[in-house]
Amino acid sequence: MDDGIAFETERLRLRQWREADYAPFAALNADAQVMRYFPAPLARVESDALADHCRSLIAAKGWGVWVAQRKADGVFLGFVGLHEPTAALPFAPCVEIAWRLARHAWGSGYATEAARGALAWGFERLGLDEIVSFTTLANARSRAVMERLGMREDAVGFEHPALPPGHPLRPHCLYRLPRTAWQAAGSRRIAPLRQSATGQGACAACDANCRRCKIGNNAQQCRAIH
Ligand SMILES: CC(C)(COP(=O)(O)OP(=O)(O)OC[C@H]1O[C@@H](n2cnc3c(N)ncnc32)[C@H](O)[C@@H]1OP(=O)(O)O)[C@@H](O)C(=O)NCCC(=O)NCCS
Repeated sequence: MDDGIAFETERLRLRQWREADYAPFAALNADAQVMRYFPAPLARVESDALADHCRSLIAAKGWGVWVAQRKADGVFLGFVGLHEPTAALPFAPCVEIAWRLARHAWGSGYATEAARGALAWGFERLGLDEIVSFTTLANARSRAVMERLGMREDAVGFEHPALPPGHPLRPHCLYRLPRTAWQAAGSRRIAPLRQSATGQGACAACDANCRRCKIGNNAQQCRAIH
């Protein structure tokens, strides 16, 4: 992962954070509509600290909450990735899948596309048995992503411990995706490509340099085969 690219999907590149991402990330975090279901928009210093945190976790673990960049024009769209929450959640320990995109990137299927790649990473590379996602009850767009991914809502939600009792955002729903359900849905067919050190394509399904399918860096053919 020398170039910082974790994997690619048809339209997106998921990669390590760079200095140039901090300004568009701050703009996204200052947007009240993007931050509607969080306690408050973030100031520049808070946004930078969050980017630093994501960056250092990826550097330490090799995976995490990646930058989602559009391949066609290199535009920073936001973040999508996997995270081990540190809050005292009733279902912890767990690995969650998370997303936050700039408003200009909504309504194009980017969150779902990137998240499918992140799920493949979590199940195939990390060998996770389950990936969860959660949000405040009213966050319909985020819940729709969870549902598109085939995640199922737990009958019982939870109160987010980081928010004070009585806070309107405190009641949360929890969605789960067991590895077995992900496999049953045939998700291996949409395994994401990643760049290998040699520049050849490699995918999470067949691993290094597409040795099995011998198709190089061609996402469409690779998905058809897997
Ligand atoms: C949550 C969030 C990432 C969802 O973004 P989104 O754009 O609604 O979700 P997707 O990227 O999956 O796009 C799906 C939409 O794109 C449409 N779409 C357009 N072209 C598409 C394509 N080629 N492929 C798939 N979907 C496409 C879909 O029809 C769908 O539209 P709809 O919402 O009108 O039904 C975004 O609203 C966000 O960043 N919110 C703020 C942060 C946040 O709340 N994060 C979650 C905290 S838990």
